[in-house]
Amino acid sequence: MKGRIFSGMQPSGKFHLGNYLGALENWVKLQHEYECFFCIVDWHALTSSYEDTRKIPQNIHDMALDWLSAGLDPERNTIFVQSHVKEHAELHLLLSMMTPLSWLERVPTYKDKLQQLGAQGKEINTYGFLGYPELMTADIILYKADTVPVGEDQLPHLELAREITRRFNNLYGPIFPEPKASLSQAPVLPGLDGRKMSKSYGNEISFSAGPEEIREKVRMMVTDPQRIKKTDLGHPDVCTVFTFHKLFNAEHAVQIEKDCRSAQIGCVECKKRLAERMVDMLADVHTRRLALERNPGRIKEILDYGAERARKVAAATMQEVNKALHL
Ligand code: ADP
Ligand code: NA
Repeated sequence: MKGRIFSGMQPSGKFHLGNYLGALENWVKLQHEYECFFCIVDWHALTSSYEDTRKIPQNIHDMALDWLSAGLDPERNTIFVQSHVKEHAELHLLLSMMTPLSWLERVPTYKDKLQQLGAQGKEINTYGFLGYPELMTADIILYKADTVPVGEDQLPHLELAREITRRFNNLYGPIFPEPKASLSQAPVLPGLDGRKMSKSYGNEISFSAGPEEIREKVRMMVTDPQRIKKTDLGHPDVCTVFTFHKLFNAEHAVQIEKDCRSAQIGCVECKKRLAERMVDMLADVHTRRLALERNPGRIKEILDYGAERARKVAAATMQEVNKALHL
């Protein structure tokens, strides 16, 4: 039998190539090996921005468009929005009754946030932020997922999810498998300025960029600062364009490195080759995106269908849970 995966992303807008390489590219592979539940976690997005919620519908739509154009198959996977399946909230409530507060308070991201706020003389400390890993646990075990693809930074959250799951099973019977982490070895993609690509730095290449935008962004990338003239010898190890070649053009990277060091290739040509390679690699993504954009009702249809599928599994789990708790 295939293993089952749950994974989610917050619809926070502006999905970029770093997000793609860091997570989504891996999902596209995993969909062939596992039964997958991919969830746009809109309730989680409220933990950091609950004041202005007007952009949520657009952000959900954009995220679904990003996922589908990346190649996630809505038949093969269950693709849905968290708030469309109310059982996430129901299970979260029950888990919150039996989780010691101290378990939540020792989560590193929570402690860091408290410290940051303390330093600014502020205090957020909403339950939603503290309870984030609690809701995440409910998300995962509601579908009896046994595997969760995570980055290194998410490991403490998953460890806590396992602890909460064990506690539930000890109290009420073995209903849930303990979800295990599948650690992704995704590389960190630099942005145009050489720092980590991030929407908070404004140095990103959007995942929705078409060929012209890709070419333009690649032209703007910083290169080896010591290389002024084409005849200067290059230092690929400090060049953002070369880092991109390693990630997007691996088969030619060795040759490009040689040619850069010996000044056989200049930065303009090097960027041109990278841009064309990226345009080729993202051609299918771009085509799928254009097709979806021509069919505006399609995304809603897919998300409705996904929610229906998710609800069936979620409702069956909650029936078991409520019976075990005599509710
Ligand atoms: P941002 O830094 O743009 O706000 P997020 O923190 O929302 O991005 O990250 C969402 C997901 O994308 C996470 O899984 C994160 O590890 C991944 N990710 C973000 N930026 C990069 C990057 N530059 N390279 C690789 N993965 C990234
Ligand atoms: Na970030």
